[in-house]
Amino acid sequence: MFKALLTVERYKWTALEEYWHSGFEGGLPGMFVEFINPRGILVVSDPHIVQELYISKNKHFEKSTKMKRILSRFIGDSMLFDKSTQLWGEKRKVLSGALYKDRLNGMLEKVIGITEGAIGGWMGKREIDITQEIGTLVSEVVMQCLFGLPSDQMDKIPYSENGTLTHLNPGLFLQKNFVMHMKRQMNPLRHYFDAFDKVLFTGTERETMRNSETFRQFIHSMIGKGVQKGGDFLSTMLQDEMFRGRDEMVVDECLTFMLAATMTTTLLITNSIYYLNQNNETALAKLRGELLTIVNGESIPTKAQDWIQLLLKEELIHLSPYLTHCIQETLRLDPSLRFSTIHQIEGGIELGGIRILDKQPCIVNIAELHSRRDQWREPGVYRPERFDPAFPEWYLTPNGQKRHPCSFSPFLGGKRVCVGKTFAESIAKCILSMLFQSLEFEFVDESVKFDKPAGTFFHKQPDYKMRITPFKPK
Ligand code: HEM
Repeated sequence: MFKALLTVERYKWTALEEYWHSGFEGGLPGMFVEFINPRGILVVSDPHIVQELYISKNKHFEKSTKMKRILSRFIGDSMLFDKSTQLWGEKRKVLSGALYKDRLNGMLEKVIGITEGAIGGWMGKREIDITQEIGTLVSEVVMQCLFGLPSDQMDKIPYSENGTLTHLNPGLFLQKNFVMHMKRQMNPLRHYFDAFDKVLFTGTERETMRNSETFRQFIHSMIGKGVQKGGDFLSTMLQDEMFRGRDEMVVDECLTFMLAATMTTTLLITNSIYYLNQNNETALAKLRGELLTIVNGESIPTKAQDWIQLLLKEELIHLSPYLTHCIQETLRLDPSLRFSTIHQIEGGIELGGIRILDKQPCIVNIAELHSRRDQWREPGVYRPERFDPAFPEWYLTPNGQKRHPCSFSPFLGGKRVCVGKTFAESIAKCILSMLFQSLEFEFVDESVKFDKPAGTFFHKQPDYKMRITPFKPK
């Protein structure tokens, strides 16, 4: 079972979900305890109970310290796995300030330039590996927008795999390194005994730690070289009193933001391309029509400068509801994080009318929330209209009621809601608009067109090669 958790390559769910579903033939209960962990983990997918966790009992919904211990030599004391202390709150305030809307437009200009460069590069190739190319594009976006790192310094980080050295871009490096840390977590000894959390058992685990150290050094060198030119996330941190002179703290948070931003957003964009391509005569045609309406039927931009004019218009957010719905529907069907990290319920409170032990480990099963049959009609089907009240047959529950607000929760909720939500949605909108108005995507192997995308960064993606041709509006 533990091995299966990370090695299965193509299935409907992750192996952990597969295991849960195998225990409940008629579908998962809204709350149950699973015993892969000796203390048991409460798995919640009832939107009413999730609402308690996010709102009325949010102060009792805390981070567990397990992940922090396991990843301590990777992301140190980062806010991601910290408890909601005063220091966490102060860090969160400074770091989310770096992503405020007034900073976002400057960042989006960079996104447009980088996407234009990527499109130009792909046109010169016969076919591209879509997962890898989107990974590189998002990595470049994150590194330039948040850290001011120039493109020519993207492919320089040495990564060791079974003793062989390769050079990877920061996004791919972090993804590989993070998955290796998760494999450490899956070791049954660590599940049963916290004392092993920081111990290294094998050569592979030692190699994982050396790679993490290499990445941390890479961030130290960014701080040292003063790559930052002002206005970006790293500069904000370095200018802030709390972070000034505390380089290890800066490295912890940079690493967290690179990790949290790159893997999740890459999945969102890759999966969106995948689903829109599958539904090219319906959803994609409607999406392209929407953009044409925004430019009043005139020609769609072809140059970065014109895209900037169009995409940075204040009204775009309101003018492109269908694009928003497509993004929401992708996040519903394949949330970038299928379940939350391990939290714990503190204070011996009641949840869903049941008394819960103090410090009970707990996770929110996001993917299950998004596919509950009492909330969603035909949950396995891609239908962006679910988010549009003009289509009650999709917008309402099968009983014709309004859906519970917590039945859609890709960014979690409450005090630990994702800080990068607006940034992720804005860059996804920007990149997807440009890609689908410039290019036509076609699978080289048409037989994989209707496969389900892997949907999580733990799965090795099959080889999704795509042919790229210029899009010519009819
Ligand atoms: C589609 C894109 C994204 C999705 C679906 C997503 C989802 C999530 C989720 C579910 C959590 C809660 C994790 C947990 O506590 O178990 C989270 C937390 C977080 N996310 Fe995101 N995220 C995305 C993009 C981003 C981006 C672009 C950034 C940074 C620019 C970011 C930064 C963070 C941080 C720092 C946290 C921890 C917040 C805290 O604990 O206070 N995320 N995200």
